[in-house]
Amino acid sequence: MKTILVTGANGQLGMEIQNIASDVKKFNFIFTDIPTLDITNEIELSAFFEKNKIDYIVNCAAYTAVDKAEENEKLCTQINNNAVKNLVEFSKEYKIKFITISTDYVFNGKYYIPYTEESETSPNSVYGNSKRNGEIVALSYENSIIIRTSWLYSHYGNNFVKTMLELSKKHSEIKVIFDQIGTPTYAADLAEAIIEIIRFSEDVEFKSGIYNYSNEGVTSWYDFAKAIFRITKTNCKVKPIETKDYPTLAERPHYSILNKSKIKNTFNLFIPHWEDSLSECIKNHKK
Ligand SMILES: NC(=O)c1ccc[n+]([C@@H]2O[C@H](COP(=O)([O-])OP(=O)(O)OC[C@H]3O[C@@H](n4cnc5c(N)ncnc54)[C@H](OP(=O)(O)O)[C@@H]3O)[C@@H](O)[C@H]2O)c1
Repeated sequence: MKTILVTGANGQLGMEIQNIASDVKKFNFIFTDIPTLDITNEIELSAFFEKNKIDYIVNCAAYTAVDKAEENEKLCTQINNNAVKNLVEFSKEYKIKFITISTDYVFNGKYYIPYTEESETSPNSVYGNSKRNGEIVALSYENSIIIRTSWLYSHYGNNFVKTMLELSKKHSEIKVIFDQIGTPTYAADLAEAIIEIIRFSEDVEFKSGIYNYSNEGVTSWYDFAKAIFRITKTNCKVKPIETKDYPTLAERPHYSILNKSKIKNTFNLFIPHWEDSLSECIKNHKK
């Protein structure tokens, strides 16, 4: 039976893979996070790969604090770039198929047509830059898949959905940016897609390269907040504001719609609409 190592497994995406792993009888999983396998530590990694026979790595580990990254470039680079290099080196040595996750922040968001995998990258933040450099490192290995995603949320970890629901407990009205357009991604859907990609690799072929993945549809943070309150029947007003009225340390892409034709056509994936997935996440959260 093939073994999948999931790094950063206590994060949003890692937890969603853990959630479905028991239903995926075809594979054996090893879930690790900083206390069990720090991917910046080459000595730990060396001992781990000597001891465990791994067929696939799904790298969910990352430095994801986008604003803090502006003042913490060294650590951000260490995790999102140098550590990816470590994993790629061990993947080459042990002939492991490598899957890692990237972001819409590799784009500057000044474009207005959905980004394909070939669109020119131009990150405008430390985080985006570190993720782009991680992509370049992964692309140096012929057995790498890079999945770019956007606006990730789940009922684990810190994310926009949980922040909105927390804020609504303290405020009757909140202000949310309307001039940043993108697509939310339910981490549970992405987790399913990753397992499908590995199944496909086993049954057909490992198709290296970059792939975009988010839910279907398009929205703004303002409309996303409205949908969260509509679905949860939360009585909280949402006031639309401009990006300039909510300054952040890191610049965000104004436009970050990902074209998902490649991932859908290659792996024959069905991707749910973001509002359906949001309802699903909220339903699961209540359980
Ligand atoms: N969140 C988003 O909106 C978003 C959007 C687009 C793309 N992405 C990408 O999607 C992927 C998954 O994101 P996510 O939201 O699931 O991230 P997350 O919740 O922040 O999880 C990342 C996990 O990696 C762990 N980690 C950090 N440094 C590590 C190290 N040196 N060794 C091992 N584990 C380490 C973290 O531990 P600690 O928490 O203890 O640091 C955390 O458990 C990432 O590649 C991210 O860049 C995320």
